[in-house]
Amino acid sequence: MDSGLLIQAPSNERAFDESQVPLYYSRKTNDILQKYGPGPRVHFHVGLFEKDARLNTTVSQAVLKRRISASQEAILSHAARSWGVPSGEPLHLLDIGCGVGGGSLYWAQEYGATVTGLTVAPEHLPVIRDFARQAGVADRVTPRHADIHELGDQRLYDAAYANESSGYMDRERLFQVVARALKPGGWFGIQEHFICRPEWTGFIDGYYKTRLGTLTEYITAAEAAGFELEQDEDVTDRVTEFWVQSMAWNTAELDRVEATGIPSAWSRDRLRESTIAHGKLFRIWRDHAMETRLLFFRLAGS
Ligand SMILES: C[S@@+](CC[C@H](N)C(=O)[O-])C[C@H]1O[C@@H](n2cnc3c(N)ncnc32)[C@H](O)[C@@H]1O
Repeated sequence: MDSGLLIQAPSNERAFDESQVPLYYSRKTNDILQKYGPGPRVHFHVGLFEKDARLNTTVSQAVLKRRISASQEAILSHAARSWGVPSGEPLHLLDIGCGVGGGSLYWAQEYGATVTGLTVAPEHLPVIRDFARQAGVADRVTPRHADIHELGDQRLYDAAYANESSGYMDRERLFQVVARALKPGGWFGIQEHFICRPEWTGFIDGYYKTRLGTLTEYITAAEAAGFELEQDEDVTDRVTEFWVQSMAWNTAELDRVEATGIPSAWSRDRLRESTIAHGKLFRIWRDHAMETRLLFFRLAGS
């Protein structure tokens, strides 16, 4: 693994098995490509719908897939606009936990950014390189197999972005590492889920292998590292519909496999497990037991 400068691990880390995360994503890569593909911009995060959207799910699986992808793109462009990211200015961006590169390609294509994407799943690298070639931004998107906790880059990036990846990380460490990696005055944009009702934490962390935290925990860690919170937008009500559409895609996939016999990247057991989990996820989000927020931090200095 590309580790850069090794920095001592934090002492306050709560019990969390880091070794499960690369395994989880290595196993999931094909599932992600089938459900959220074909790319080249493939995302693995919730998406944005109109507030109180209740879109009819008695539609084809292709329509569901297009809606899901469009909502994922919508949340990126909403965040970029809300955060006031200027286009046409040089932007060297660190995409932390880049998945199969949907966000990295977005910033490169829409904002002309030069992007370094970090992932702990080595299987993502050739996929991202291939998508970047297809999108014509291979010269501006560089995926790295690296753990953010060990990154030693200093004053290199104008901005950092973490879309539904900070939930896998030690936040104190994350903000310290990003504060070192950014140039003074740089920004750090985060899309993440935050615990409001801890009764559900075990279920979500078990399902996604995360270690989600509270908003207070993030803000405390960010301030300790020299960041100021400039924007905090609660988008929970606009992403809740994502679970409905995603659940509908799962059941359509089960129906498709049963009707045609054409296999899925997803096993039937996985589809069934995921569909049951989605029922809970929908209720958790509808009740604001978890909240999805877009946070925008600025590092001190200019
Ligand atoms: C839910 S996926 C999000 C992917 C991508 N940001 C997106 O929105 O499509 C989480 C990603 O975080 C990455 N990740 C988890 N822990 C990490 C760590 N310690 N350092 C770097 N990446 C990490 C995983 O490899 C995975 O790509």
